[in-house]
Amino acid sequence: MEELFFEIFELLPRQGPGDEVSTRNAFQKLTELPKYPEILDVGCGAGKQTIALAKLTSGNITAMDNHSPFIEILKRNINQADYSDRIKCVVGDMSSMDFADESFDLVWSEGAAYMMGFENALKSWKRLLRPNGYMVVSELVWFKEDAPKEIKDFFAGEYPAMKYYKDIHPIIESAGYKAIDYFQLPDKSWWIDYYTPIEKVIAEKRIKYRGDKDARAVFDIFQLEMDMHKKYSEYYGYGFYIMQKTN
Ligand SMILES: C[S@@+](CC[C@H](N)C(=O)[O-])C[C@H]1O[C@@H](n2cnc3c(N)ncnc32)[C@H](O)[C@@H]1O
Repeated sequence: MEELFFEIFELLPRQGPGDEVSTRNAFQKLTELPKYPEILDVGCGAGKQTIALAKLTSGNITAMDNHSPFIEILKRNINQADYSDRIKCVVGDMSSMDFADESFDLVWSEGAAYMMGFENALKSWKRLLRPNGYMVVSELVWFKEDAPKEIKDFFAGEYPAMKYYKDIHPIIESAGYKAIDYFQLPDKSWWIDYYTPIEKVIAEKRIKYRGDKDARAVFDIFQLEMDMHKKYSEYYGYGFYIMQKTN
């Protein structure tokens, strides 16, 4: 059924919640970035935020993801937007990147660091940053500590390592970064480029896969996640964490 997940995700504008304004808001906090920074976008997916970053900087961006069809979509978008001289695409694994130490001024990752664990990602990607380099990661967190049982149980299955947003700050510091800023991704950023397109794609796929029980189970997983979000979005969401390497 993994193939069906990818069949759905490859049709979406983004592969996770996000929006261009939030990417810009986070980028604007990086006041000590050089004029032509070297940037690494980890788990870029089809690269909506990669293109947004390219609009914000005159630097070079390396966009990497382990799913090559996403990278192919990004390459087409890069050509259309005429950024092929500044964005390089790489298919690779975020947990074993072979870029040289201190080769980037900024490591960016929207909604992807959880794949190897937030803390683990911060620690293992730090060597890639130049002195005083920045790390910007969006991470799924609890906004409130007193979430109802139904949504707690849901995420106990989906993302058991999910933390309360304030508990991320000590992790940032112990991993060798200074916390520069934090903000919550707005609720509408889950819908415009993510859940609304998922609803549309799933409605079409339910017709294509009519009678296929396994496929129906996949569609129901997406539906349950969206239903949970409609009901409980005040309790959880993405935190944008802006950090600077300290040692
Ligand atoms: C939730 S999506 C976020 C994509 C994109 N950053 C966005 O916000 O639309 C997570 C991405 O991480 C990628 N990914 C998962 N495991 C990976 C790994 N081990 N190495 C590199 N990329 C990975 C997935 O293919 C997917 O594109």
